[in-house]
Amino acid sequence: MTESASLRASAFSPRFDIGAQRIDCGREPHVDTHEAADQRASWPLLDYSACEPTEDQAAINRWLAGAALDGREVLHVGTGNSSVAQLLAGKARRIVSVTVARNEWEHGRALGLRDYSVHLLNKHSLAFAEQFEPASFDCILDNNLASFACCQRHLERYFEALVRLLKPEGFVLTHWLGMQWTLDVGVDDVEPVWRLDAGKLRAIASAYQLSVEREDELFFLRRARGAAAARS
Ligand SMILES: C[S@@+](CC[C@H](N)C(=O)[O-])C[C@H]1O[C@@H](n2cnc3c(N)ncnc32)[C@H](O)[C@@H]1O
Repeated sequence: MTESASLRASAFSPRFDIGAQRIDCGREPHVDTHEAADQRASWPLLDYSACEPTEDQAAINRWLAGAALDGREVLHVGTGNSSVAQLLAGKARRIVSVTVARNEWEHGRALGLRDYSVHLLNKHSLAFAEQFEPASFDCILDNNLASFACCQRHLERYFEALVRLLKPEGFVLTHWLGMQWTLDVGVDDVEPVWRLDAGKLRAIASAYQLSVEREDELFFLRRARGAAAARS
């Protein structure tokens, strides 16, 4: 680490403590950050462009199918086969998706769906945090909220971005199954502490003045009453 990087790292003061040991990995996250792990895995790890949605994504999609999202703006983190965009195209006002898998990015773009854009971005990166206007989204979906966390500093950056991107009445939606899964293939593994349960999710959320509501296996994060909305 350079001297200025180590100064920046030491200036980082965590907002919450759920027991993480790797506070700052010292590397700016980018789209190839998980590539070595992807090559090690003997099953699809990142590229779900040709896969059916995972069980947790499918459960989120069932909820979306009955939700009042007409005219709403939706951010889907973890594009997969663009199932969310295929479900909401022509209904939501805008669907935006981000992925680190080039095939998912290309597949999503090739679908030519109305009001759908896919971005090749690491959600922990500065580029993601700066990509969209504040208060852009009514609904943010991520079934793997902490599953790919390289360190606490960059996970915190992601949560800061989520809060900034949410409209005042917006929500983040995640799922119990994806909360409990972390990257664990023997290369660049994610610290097991990021396997979330309801208590850890609440501890993280409250550091960002978000409340957590559970509906069976779905978890909704919303601005706690009285918390300030993001300003442009
Ligand atoms: C297991 S696939 C799941 C795809 C889809 N959400 C589903 O559940 O069917 C993991 C997804 O997370 C994305 N992903 C993993 N780490 C990411 C990161 N750091 N930033 C953005 N996307 C990431 C991958 O690109 C991929 O789209």
